[in-house]
Amino acid sequence: MSITITEPSTVFHPGPHQLVRTPVGWQDLPYTRFTLQPLSPTIGAVVSGVSMADAVDAEMFGELNRALLEWKVLFFRNQHITPAEHATFASNWGALESHPFIKHRSDQPEDMPEVVRLAKGPKMAGYENTWHSDVTWRLTPSLGSVLRAVEVPEVGGDTLWADMGAAYDGLSDATKERIDGLLAEHDWINSFGRGMDPATRDALRPDFPAVHHPVVRTHPETGRKTLYVNQAFTQHIVGMDPDESRDLLEHLYLRAAYPEFQCRFHWQAGDVAFWDNRSTQHYATSDYFPQTRVMERITVVGDRPV
Ligand SMILES: [Fe+2]
Repeated sequence: MSITITEPSTVFHPGPHQLVRTPVGWQDLPYTRFTLQPLSPTIGAVVSGVSMADAVDAEMFGELNRALLEWKVLFFRNQHITPAEHATFASNWGALESHPFIKHRSDQPEDMPEVVRLAKGPKMAGYENTWHSDVTWRLTPSLGSVLRAVEVPEVGGDTLWADMGAAYDGLSDATKERIDGLLAEHDWINSFGRGMDPATRDALRPDFPAVHHPVVRTHPETGRKTLYVNQAFTQHIVGMDPDESRDLLEHLYLRAAYPEFQCRFHWQAGDVAFWDNRSTQHYATSDYFPQTRVMERITVVGDRPV
């Protein structure tokens, strides 16, 4: 049986994708302090030759930051570092955030609210299996996240990342034109707010109002355009008819789900992923319940998307 495609489909998109890893005019320079093993053509590379427990000098910072911009997610294997070393490494990129909604647990490091412990097991299944960038409900979402595996299942519990610059490039010219200049509302109320009692939600509201971000973000360091709406936190397109907004957002959300824009990582205890939260989305597969998966995450304060 043959299938005839009479018009472009938003779901069925066979044929090659033309993928570009770095923005036009970007200069590829060699790395002298470590080696990189790419996981896909545009996103994800394993860094070898770096101990995250060591101080990051100016040259190392320059090369790691360049690698982060080019590959969007860096993986460091076998880093059995302390929470303090984890924080010191992340703070090379800026001030550290503390998360207002994820409760500080008694087994977390004392006096380190910036370390978010994400612990799953027989009593709680993984729930981060929705494509998202971290904390886009903030006016200034994180620059990046540094996530370390503490305990992971032997099989399952992988994380996927999507290159939202490549996802933007892959849109039709008509869609690019349609979304140019649009703003979208982002909010925590339908995710973190869902399990809260109304009084707690009301008390947090003044400090964390819904925010507006551009649907297409220009990366502050590379100048590359990225698609900046996500299933977890984006609510609607500002000023658009609700049905039209829903249809458009569903079409845009789907772009993160294209395997051509993704990489996938299987964790071992001690592995660390450092992602650029401005140019990527991620999805934590929840396929290991009731096994245990414990991760510790530190996020770096970012700037306001433009
Ligand atoms: Fe996340």
